[in-house]
Amino acid sequence: MGAYRDTYERSLTDPDGFWRDAAAGVDWDRMPMRVLDGDRPPFYRWFPDAELNTCYNAVDRHVAAGRADETALIYDSPVTGTLRSYTWRELRHEVARCAGALRELGVEKGDRVVVYMAMVPEAVITMLACARLGAVHSVVFGGFGPKELAARIDDARPKVVVATSCGIEGSRVVEYKPLLDAALAEATHRPDRCVVLQRPQAPGVLQDCDLTWEDALDGAAEAACVPVAATDPLYILYTSGTTGRPKGIVRDNGGHAVALTWSMANVYATGPGDVFWAASDVGWVVGHSYIVYGPLLAGATTVLYEGKPVGTPDAGAFFRVIEQHGVTALFTAPTAIRAIRKEDPSGSFAARYRTDSLRTLFLAGERLDPQTYEWAGATLGVPVVDHWWQTETGWPVAANLRGLEPMPTKAGSPSVPVPGFDVRVLQPDGAPAPAGVDGAIVIGLPLPPGCLPTLWHDDERFVESYLSAFPDVYLTGDGGRFDDDGYLYVMGRTDDVINVAGHRLSTGSMEEVLAAHPAVAECAVIGVDDELKGQVPRGFVVLKAGIDTEHEVIEQELVASVRRRIGAVASLRRVQVVPALPKTRSGKILRKTMRGIAAGADPAVPSTIEDPSVLDTLRPILRPE
Ligand code: COA
Ligand code: AMP
Repeated sequence: MGAYRDTYERSLTDPDGFWRDAAAGVDWDRMPMRVLDGDRPPFYRWFPDAELNTCYNAVDRHVAAGRADETALIYDSPVTGTLRSYTWRELRHEVARCAGALRELGVEKGDRVVVYMAMVPEAVITMLACARLGAVHSVVFGGFGPKELAARIDDARPKVVVATSCGIEGSRVVEYKPLLDAALAEATHRPDRCVVLQRPQAPGVLQDCDLTWEDALDGAAEAACVPVAATDPLYILYTSGTTGRPKGIVRDNGGHAVALTWSMANVYATGPGDVFWAASDVGWVVGHSYIVYGPLLAGATTVLYEGKPVGTPDAGAFFRVIEQHGVTALFTAPTAIRAIRKEDPSGSFAARYRTDSLRTLFLAGERLDPQTYEWAGATLGVPVVDHWWQTETGWPVAANLRGLEPMPTKAGSPSVPVPGFDVRVLQPDGAPAPAGVDGAIVIGLPLPPGCLPTLWHDDERFVESYLSAFPDVYLTGDGGRFDDDGYLYVMGRTDDVINVAGHRLSTGSMEEVLAAHPAVAECAVIGVDDELKGQVPRGFVVLKAGIDTEHEVIEQELVASVRRRIGAVASLRRVQVVPALPKTRSGKILRKTMRGIAAGADPAVPSTIEDPSVLDTLRPILRPE
């Protein structure tokens, strides 16, 4: 592991030199003189005196470099039967026009724009248009309902919201416009305007402050790229924390462009001429980093796929896309592979397509179970690279660095720490855990470029959530261990965040919805194992005294209200009325103990438990069938 070892070593001992070299991969309006600003720990900033424009780097410079007629973006939508591609020239034109339209609506540098859109090219165009103006986009995943959307609108306080009238989920049309209206009715912040891309499957009913995408762009002048400070925010992406209030992860412009450019070459071995396909959604960090910014910064073609791994129309969809577009690297979540394997265990669909353009399958977003790892490798005949990261870091923390130095992969491990990330495993007392021993996975400060510098307008929560458990390190929220070869094993979250089909969700947010039901006295939502989705939530409620409605009726109402308020993506299908919840004497619900029992383990019962008999009653209900 020569090249890897040396590079990793240098990234930690000489971060200034390392990242100064990496910064050469980006075009700057003002070159960085300083690399790391460590004057105000624990708040570190990268390239504090530099200026650039991220959209210029992702789009215009490829036109300037003579690649105007090569393909930048392929939109493949089996759910609408659409196939469309954009050259760099076309993409530049569309983005510049959209930026001009946003400016006409009053959007300037630093203003926020909330994007609530399905997987259509206009979503990518809007994100890049914001970057062009130095405005800050905040994309909200289309699967989220009014409660989640309203929370994000109130925190980001956007000047404009850009939405699609609907999304298409397999054969089901999901109307987004009524969800947006409901969110705005619930939010206290009012955007000036909402721009709605009307889709023929379900055009939305427009209100006074709404205008259509066509009207907004009609006659709009092209806007030029606005240089911004490297430390200025590019976007806010909300992610689930342990409470119901989402965390506004801030991404800066300079560190992000440098880190993603470096990752495309060194982790993903992808550059100009390659076709990169991240089968995720622009509403998640994978979509931000590896559908939109990463491939485009690197000058690779990116694929925007509006469909599912199965059912659009069948389990051959992924292989068809690989063949049709000559995909060289595919990035998806293990759930997607499990869904394909479930429908087609023998891999007969894969055999019908020529997938020999594919060099690597990258998987992340949740733990990669060994069976899925083996099946994917055997079916596609390429290396399967598990890699681990989070919304907060924005790019991989542990990976097999296919560009820098491919290494042997090991089932169950996302391989080794990526250069720039000082990954350690700590025991509860803060001492380093020896190889083979589980602990909290942390990253030494400063985090490398591209990671969150703070939370949107909330330095205090940033410190409290990530930096207060142990001194001078960032707490990832994941537990795991190193083996003797320095390979990391990530075993799962140590908090109440759950990962459902690769979607990160907050049990706290679901509990808020359950608790709001008039019959509910108290409740708990925990993540339980699921064969297809990795994890799914399960809810338990205790009713107020004197409620005599059938339990089943209340349970169904609760399931429906979570679906309506948070969104279908919550996948909460089971809520059960129970006589009591296990609590400590100070009233804290013992969710961790409940999780352990539901996972089939026999966790030690905390000595602080108020009434051990409650747990005895719950045990048979919690136990996996
Ligand atoms: N807009 C509206 N609704 C959405 C949505 C969106 N963008 N995305 C998902 N939903 C809905 C789904 O239609 C589903 O509704 P249903 O309960 O009526 O069936 C619900 O939310 C749950 O979605 P999901 O958990 O994705 O389950 P699914 O059964 O639709 O699909 C998989 C299962 C495995 C095929 C799918 O989860 C998948 O492709 N996963 C890949 C993971 C991924 O892309 N992760 C992103 C991070 S890498
Ligand atoms: P998100 O912020 O949505 O990207 O989710 C991040 C969380 O997903 C991490 O904290 C992990 O719990 C989990 N995760 C992501 N990738 C992996 C992986 N390769 N192995 C195990 N867990 C993962």
